[in-house]
Amino acid sequence: MATGLSDVELAAGAKLMARLDAFAAFTDEPGRLTRLFLSDAHRRAAQAFIAWCGEAGLNARVDPAGNVVARYEGKSAGAPALMLGSHIDTVRDAGRYDGNYGALAALAVVEALAAEGERLDHAVEIVAFGDEEGVRYRTTLTGSRALAGTYSKDALNQKDSGGVLMRDALKAFGGDPERAGAIRAQNVAAFVEAHIEQDPVLEAEGLPLGIVTAINGATRLEVGVDGMAGHAGATPMALRRDALTAAAEMALAIEARARAEPNLVATVGRLEVWPGATNVIPGHVQFSIDLRAPDDSRRAVALADLTQRIEAVAASRGVRATLAKTHEADAFVCDSRIVAGLAKAVGSLGVPPRLLPSGAGHDTMIMGGLCPAGMLFVRCKGGVSHNPLESITLEDCAFGLAALTRFVRDFHIL
Ligand code: GLV
Ligand code: MN
Ligand code: MN
Repeated sequence: MATGLSDVELAAGAKLMARLDAFAAFTDEPGRLTRLFLSDAHRRAAQAFIAWCGEAGLNARVDPAGNVVARYEGKSAGAPALMLGSHIDTVRDAGRYDGNYGALAALAVVEALAAEGERLDHAVEIVAFGDEEGVRYRTTLTGSRALAGTYSKDALNQKDSGGVLMRDALKAFGGDPERAGAIRAQNVAAFVEAHIEQDPVLEAEGLPLGIVTAINGATRLEVGVDGMAGHAGATPMALRRDALTAAAEMALAIEARARAEPNLVATVGRLEVWPGATNVIPGHVQFSIDLRAPDDSRRAVALADLTQRIEAVAASRGVRATLAKTHEADAFVCDSRIVAGLAKAVGSLGVPPRLLPSGAGHDTMIMGGLCPAGMLFVRCKGGVSHNPLESITLEDCAFGLAALTRFVRDFHIL
């Protein structure tokens, strides 16, 4: 490999890649990677993370909100911290790098410092967030919200599809629902997250790394459609109030609205049908909407349009639609000093620093409410993510870790 990486950096990258492979074994479903928030696989992954921290001399723990956290002191105890991390929950049938890369890279940075007995002017805190994907419950980013001081206790009353309350799952996991809303991080100078790109821009430009300038804002909605269940054989077509065909028309209207505007994306990613029988006209449907844009005012206009279109479809089909917002995060602009610092670290590896926005959401956009925050992207194959085909090269893995480590060594309290 002809790279600007030292042998030590290449070896650290190889170790990180091996860990990412080993970590993918923590799954709730045999044969594919599914690690939902507070699940058994999440618990086993958190324990492995804590054990690896222990090997590096770090005393890691599960915090009240279900994050794994650890601190590597600087030259003086109690110094302000640079916090590094990402999430270790996954979507269903996930790739192994989304989130996990940044959480394990954060640990690898501390291992590099600890191996040299190196203490910096600042402490380094690492975090493996538990709830970024928002798959199990209809909330998301609760781990970073807890550390950023914006936790909503309503989240604890959410039930998963099996009726398990987040409050109970969190307690069983080792968290503390009573304290989850009271753990705003103190004395954090900045937060930085390394993550795979999930977009094919870096690949198209032949670059291993990118520095994120901004993250799209997002709204998530839960839509309930009430029609009328009835006999599939006996009810004439003209007399039906079919909740599923109404929802299908709504999904197409949502897609059409998003297609009509550059940079706006909207997805209906989950749809459930009741009673769900071959010979019964669907009486009730629940579906999700995920709407994102780089511009918050454009997202607000699109949201109003979508609401109107859904109501129009409901009226024309004689069904009732109820919309509930389950998540809202404004677009986030990364801190310019962190962008500059990451660009310097990337440049020091002989890699041209490429600045780019993120279409995907990240814990960084929440942590940015607490302290200056930024992100480093690592090229992934074809930009494919939320898919088991997610892939990065060993060399890019090492480039990302080396850039993050160099950034941390060079970091000065903002
Ligand atoms: C997280 O992967 C998100 O952007 O939804
Ligand atoms: Mn992610
Ligand atoms: Mn993801």
